[in-house]
Amino acid sequence: MAYGSFRQFLDALEKAGELTRVSVPVETDLLIAEWANREMKSPGGGKALLFENPTVDGKPSKFPLAINTMGSRRRMALALQVESVEDLAQQIQLILKAKPPTDLREGWSLLKQGLHLLHARPKHSKEGACQEVVHRFAERPMSNSEGLTLADLPILKCWPKDGGRFITLPNVHTRDPDTGARNLGMYRMQIYDERTTGMHWQVHKVGARHGQRYYERGERMPVAVCLGGDPAYTFAATAPLPDGLDEILFAGFIRKKSVDLVPCKTVELEVPSDVDFVLEGYVQPGETHPEGPFGDHTGFYTAVEDYPVFHLTAITHRRDAIYPTTIVGIPPMEDFYMGDASVRIFLPVFKMNFPELVDMTLPPEGVFHNLVFVSIRKQYPYQAFKVMHGLWGMGQMMFSKYIVVVDEDCDVHNTSEVLFRLCANTDPERDSTIIRNPSDSLDHAPSSQNIGSHMGFDATRKLPGENYHRSWPELLKMTDEAQKLVDALQKKAG
Ligand SMILES: Cc1cc2nc3c(=O)[nH]c(=O)nc-3n(C[C@H](O)[C@H](O)[C@H](O)COP(=O)(O)O)c2cc1C
Repeated sequence: MAYGSFRQFLDALEKAGELTRVSVPVETDLLIAEWANREMKSPGGGKALLFENPTVDGKPSKFPLAINTMGSRRRMALALQVESVEDLAQQIQLILKAKPPTDLREGWSLLKQGLHLLHARPKHSKEGACQEVVHRFAERPMSNSEGLTLADLPILKCWPKDGGRFITLPNVHTRDPDTGARNLGMYRMQIYDERTTGMHWQVHKVGARHGQRYYERGERMPVAVCLGGDPAYTFAATAPLPDGLDEILFAGFIRKKSVDLVPCKTVELEVPSDVDFVLEGYVQPGETHPEGPFGDHTGFYTAVEDYPVFHLTAITHRRDAIYPTTIVGIPPMEDFYMGDASVRIFLPVFKMNFPELVDMTLPPEGVFHNLVFVSIRKQYPYQAFKVMHGLWGMGQMMFSKYIVVVDEDCDVHNTSEVLFRLCANTDPERDSTIIRNPSDSLDHAPSSQNIGSHMGFDATRKLPGENYHRSWPELLKMTDEAQKLVDALQKKAG
């Protein structure tokens, strides 16, 4: 059964021994971040934390706060309600391979798949739990009748030199003004005052593309920001789906239940009915404001830059809402597990594009796109380079700064094994390539923002035709028989 609320997900975490309650009052200015950072750095990602009594500048907040709820492989699986995220990968693989069934077993399996696909279509209701309490904002100047404002939410200041408090797990809903296509992305929001924030959609992201079209049309852009609800929404917001592939459909597919959408109260957008908070508002064409600094997922502060401004027109929420948040910083952090799940779930899509691809991972040290390890079944010369160039042309993989390609018998999840192959198997000049490509906006290393060079290493064994004029040596390996015998002997020896 899909989660009916964020609270239900937290109950499931607690039942699984994956949640720690903190009942002492803890301040949202740095202290919750420091507590959570220690938890995220503990083996396997620690536990989710439910701060029951967070304080904002010493005053008790009206709402509890949850953090690190997806910060381990187990919690990520619990969030997506699967034994392991590979189950979802398998379902995606089935769809990709869907063809008329040739026998009954295949027929059943396709039918089951079809039913799951049916759930991808959203439903529509008039009102939802996320609107149990409604606070509308009048146009400026602010009147006192507004009740709840952003100052009442337990929003974190994460790092000492941050430019302020930031909403760090916002699910930002927008629409393409030309096609009406929906988008759901995660873009952090810096609090400027009680009713305005920054909207940090980077130039390569879909929200920014939608914004650009509104600016060109000179129209106010409606935006709705959801917090909480089924964690499938939050995961879908971060997933690097191609522009035009609806995250709401994807969320419905993941949770195997249609997302129930309700119309917002003050903007023409729909949001999932079961989320905890909805921040309704708009972005005014051309209006920007300095955003940052922010202690980012790169492990460094990102500098101040101008970003669009989000104006609130209403806050709606559940009566028993819980505020979800995270912190990013020097890895490993909670966001590693979200990115890791994306790569594992979408591996079949990559494999469809690259039939030689065996496995792929973005290790935590690379903070997502700085480092990619790929293993391939190599058949012909320069195939590793073909795979690198293909990846650099695929959506957000364009940001991959270093790609290391290894042979299929190397475990890409074992960084030490990959480094061994990289060092042993490459002649740097012959086996590397440097290209120009768009860079991640947050990468501080390139001389100019958003553009830079990327490097690929072919750490596979060399084939004839790859400019290697000696015979490739054999990798050491013990015989299976000797291994089995020693297994048995060691068992006997205790
Ligand atoms: C915790 C977290 C925070 C993020 N913050 C931002 C952000 O502030 N700006 C941004 O452009 N991307 C951010 N991202 C990455 C985007 O959510 C991700 O690239 C997503 O695929 C964008 O969706 P889109 O392709 O629909 O634009 C963040 C991801 C995570 C996990």
